[in-house]
Amino acid sequence: MKKKKYFLREFFKEKKIVGAISPSSKTLGRLMLKNIDFDNCSCIAEYGPGTGVFTRMILEKMNDDAKLLVFELHDAFYAKLVKEFEGNENVILINDSAENITKHMAENNISVLDAVVSSLPLANFDEKLTSQILKRAQGALKSNGLYVQFQYSLNAKKLLKRIYSSVKIDFTPKNIPPAFVYTCRK
Ligand SMILES: C[S@@+](CC[C@H](N)C(=O)[O-])C[C@H]1O[C@@H](n2cnc3c(N)ncnc32)[C@H](O)[C@@H]1O
Repeated sequence: MKKKKYFLREFFKEKKIVGAISPSSKTLGRLMLKNIDFDNCSCIAEYGPGTGVFTRMILEKMNDDAKLLVFELHDAFYAKLVKEFEGNENVILINDSAENITKHMAENNISVLDAVVSSLPLANFDEKLTSQILKRAQGALKSNGLYVQFQYSLNAKKLLKRIYSSVKIDFTPKNIPPAFVYTCRK
């Protein structure tokens, strides 16, 4: 099945969790990753990789000995990621919610993250879940670390500004739908 059709089918199964009708564009991916200093990253977390469009781009840029901790809650996407990335020593795949970052870092002997790349559909979550995910990610990041999040609106601006010392916003029309990228520095 074609990638876009497959993604749309999964959207109709779990609309709130999947949160998009189509995988993101590479243009959006480039915007998400442009401020990450990959040469100095030893551990990155990705939240909500879906079918892995950003995962592949991150792995292309990451150091050979760096780790990528990948959180995907939707079972069908997780199974697809396992097929593609199982055996890749840089990738740790986790079929759990991103809110449980602290537990999974401890289990994998990871003390700090250099960056978090998040595609989570925050606008679909209740306030408590959003706040837990964002605060725990902030707590897991090294000082000066980056939290990068895309959304289809400016809904997350106020909350992210409360948690991070600096929040920069980019926009690209080259995505379905057009998207805002929040680059937040701890
Ligand atoms: C908008 S899609 C983005 C998929 C992909 N990164 C892309 O840009 O094409 C959001 C993704 O977040 C996942 N997701 C939703 N809630 C999650 C959670 N609490 N923890 C981890 N993943 C979650 C969904 O299953 C979905 O794969």
